[in-house]
Amino acid sequence: MAENMIYVLNGPNLNLLGTREPAIYGSDTLDDIAGRLEDRASALGLEVDVRQSNHEGHLVDWLHEAQAEGAKAVLLNAGAYTHTSIALHDAIKAIRTPVIEVHLSNPHTREEFRHLSYVGQAAKGTIAGFGALSYLLALEAAAAL
Ligand code: DQA
Repeated sequence: MAENMIYVLNGPNLNLLGTREPAIYGSDTLDDIAGRLEDRASALGLEVDVRQSNHEGHLVDWLHEAQAEGAKAVLLNAGAYTHTSIALHDAIKAIRTPVIEVHLSNPHTREEFRHLSYVGQAAKGTIAGFGALSYLLALEAAAAL
């Protein structure tokens, strides 16, 4: 069991953070964010496992794995799958591990197609709009659960 482990799962196009639309998503890379999460997690007595995939099914598999491995929580930035994926919604509902939805941007201030979140309708809570800090705030929330 890995009850001090936090899975940090990232969906499509987040591998391009740093160069992808920096005016919206900032100039930090996913590795930069992972480094900050590792530092803060270690201060909290936790560990993070940061992953990224452009494939929906990988994210589903990793959610199942988080429960099977006894992870404490999952931070999930599902990227655009947030707005399309009933499979991710169902996977979050299918596991008991708490899932915190994370976004760099605030989807509610953007295009209308981003206002619907299938992930948010199943997640324990959502942190969005604070750039890379959203992940660190979500880690604090996970630590407090
Ligand atoms: C995002 C917001 C989504 O709408 C978008 O498709 C992304 C990134 C964010 O972190 O702000 O890929 O999840």
